[in-house]
Formats: sequence, C-alpha cells, structure tokens
Amino acid sequence: MNLDFLKYQAQTTPHPLGLEISHAKGSYIYTTNNEAHLDFVAGVSACSVGHCHPKVIEAIKIQADKYLHVMVYGEYAQKPAVNYTKHLAQLLPIPQASTYLVNSGTEAIEGAIKLARRATGREEIIAAKNAYHGNTMGALSLMDFEERKAPFYPLIPEIKHIAFNKTDQLNQISSNTAAVILETIQGGAGIIEPTNNYLKEVKSRCEEVGALLILDEIQPGFGRTGFLFAFQKYGVVPDILVIGKGMAGGLPVGAFVAQRKLINLLSDNPKMGHITTFGGNPLIAAASLATLKIVEKPEFLKTILEKEKHFKSLLQHELIQEVRGTGLMLALIMKDENTANELILRAQKEKLILFWLLFEKRAVRITPPLTINHQEIEKGCKIILDILDDLV
Ligand SMILES: Cc1ncc(COP(=O)(O)O)c(C=O)c1O
Repeated sequence: MNLDFLKYQAQTTPHPLGLEISHAKGSYIYTTNNEAHLDFVAGVSACSVGHCHPKVIEAIKIQADKYLHVMVYGEYAQKPAVNYTKHLAQLLPIPQASTYLVNSGTEAIEGAIKLARRATGREEIIAAKNAYHGNTMGALSLMDFEERKAPFYPLIPEIKHIAFNKTDQLNQISSNTAAVILETIQGGAGIIEPTNNYLKEVKSRCEEVGALLILDEIQPGFGRTGFLFAFQKYGVVPDILVIGKGMAGGLPVGAFVAQRKLINLLSDNPKMGHITTFGGNPLIAAASLATLKIVEKPEFLKTILEKEKHFKSLLQHELIQEVRGTGLMLALIMKDENTANELILRAQKEKLILFWLLFEKRAVRITPPLTINHQEIEKGCKIILDILDDLV
C-alpha cells in the first residue's frame, strides 16, 4: 500500500483497498505494477461509458483547447452548458425542463431541497428509510441511520422517514410536506426496485397535498437500468429530477432539473438563491453531452437489458441467494456479510473489482461500465463462481 496515500490524503475508512492506478481504458483499470483489473463497479456507477471513452476524451480535449472556467455559474452563456441542457431537455418528459448544473450528486440534492422549500414555503421533507442521497449536511439529514448522523448534529430539522414500497405509510405525506424525496431505485439499501405502482401512488399523494416529488436518479440515471432514466420504467415523472454520477462519463458532476417556472424561483427572492462557482463547468458539460449522445440511443439501451440477462443467467450458485436489480444496477445477495466480504476481497486478488453496498451488508455490488462486453461479463462471472466454489 502506498504510504503517502495513507499519510497525506484524508481517508474515509481505516482499510482502503489501495490499488495504485496507472491508467484505465474500457472495462479495465491498470495498476502501476501492470495488472489489468476487470471493473464490475465503474467507480460506483459513475464511469457509465467505460473508462476514457474516446468520444468523451475527444470532447474534453476540444473544449480544453478553447476555454476552461471563465465565470461563476449562470452569468455567461457558455456553449457547452447551453448545448447540454438543451439536449437533455429534449429527452426529458418534464415540460419546459430547465437544468441547474452543479458539481456533485450531494450538492444537487441540496439544491433540490432548497428549491422544494422555496417553492412550497413548507419545511418538512419526507425521505425513505435506508435511503442514501449524499453526505453534505442537508443530504445527510435525509438519512435515517442515527449512528451515521449523531456525531454531526444538529442537522436540518423537519425530516420524516417512511418505509420504501409501503403504500400504507403515504398518509404521512401531508399539507405540511414540501417534498418527498426518493431514489427511484434504492441503491445503498440493497438495490430495491419500487414495486407495483408505488411511485405512481407517491406522486398522486404528493399532488393531493401540494407536495413536490423529488426523484434521485444519481445512480440509476443515464442508461444504467436500460432506460435513459429509471422513472420512465415506472411511469412517473418527478417534479424535480436529481442526476449525477454517470452523467459526465467519469468527471465530477451533479444537476437538478425542473420546469423552468419552478427552478427560476432560485433566481429571485432572494436573487442567487443557489450559487456555485464551478457548476456548468465547460469541460464537464462537454463530457456530459458526449456521454449523453452515447447512452441516449435506443440500440445502446437495449444492450443493457441483454447484459442484465447474461449476468443473471451466469451468476447462479448455491452461495448466491439472489441476483437483485435491473439493467446493470445489480447486486448479489449472499447468505451473510462474511461471504460478501470474502468474495469482494478475494476477487480483488483475482483482479476483478467488486464492491459493497452501503447498508445491505450481504450485498456485493455489480454495476459495471454500461459498455462492458459479453466476453468480459463471462470472464468476471467465472472468477466469481470459482471463488464461491472455493468458499463452499
Ligand atoms: C442515490 C445517490 N444519491 C446521491 C449520491 C451522492 O452523490 P455524490 O457522491 O456525487 O455527492 C449518491 C452517491 O453514491 C447516490 O448513489
């Protein structure tokens, strides 16, 4: 393990995996000692079109030769951000969609919370149990894990939690509620899809009481489920859509999208109701457009569902209780936490990158680049099955 990495770069866990990276391409990450690691994680769903996709790199290079940061967000008309938000609006079912570009998923969540409060004049936000929306103070407040929040109190008040997929709890959404915020598919909780008409019922309860529906598509968005956005699969349209991760093909990004008349509330009373220096950064907007032009294609989205089938057909083993999820947002649910840990750590030795989910300790994350090919799927699944045979 690189000692300077431990000494100078702040850590988030006592035991980081610590691979030393040389470069990355397609579905592989290469280490400084010349190992090729097959990537079944994609930087936690962020490298949607594979590492260093040539179209993304080309867009970055072209833009880098023109200009980088020139002004804080929202003052100058910069073509990359204008072209991107226009293209995105044309693909979204949100009428007159207007996009506020920020720097990360959690910052986009902060913006969405602020917008919901500003638009409704209400304080209460309802989130789901086991949800993850990010780690800044507002996004952290939406989490329902006391032990993760308590050391940072006080967080923002008036947050309530309901159980995901439990329609009998929707009566907690009331005329006091500014917004209900849900991940369209719960990721950290164990890749939990909404069942039946759950999201439709949430939306209709929100409409009844004048609350907004915020859908967090930071993880399932941009093709990961075989739909450009997962909400399209469940037949609802959010009032505020939050996106990030896979959006810029591997650069840091986030955004929240709403009808123009709604999102414009942030430019008045107070003016500059949300401010960011680097949001809409031209390099990142150019990479976002290049990424979107790849993932939006119906023939590309179709391949995601074929790859899901391939994974599910291969990953059958007595130690795997379930292959959960949809598209390439998958998780193996093992019989216990120990088996999941063993599999992830042994896979690293076999040069296959797997990872944990935040709250479901029996889960092993499988969220590869969407561009992964069938041969790579077979290769990685064989490594998994061989390790599991050894663990029986
Ligand atoms: C559903 C969801 N929301 C929000 C976030 C936070 O995004 P970021 O890490 O870019 O701040 C994440 C990141 O894992 C996420 O999966």
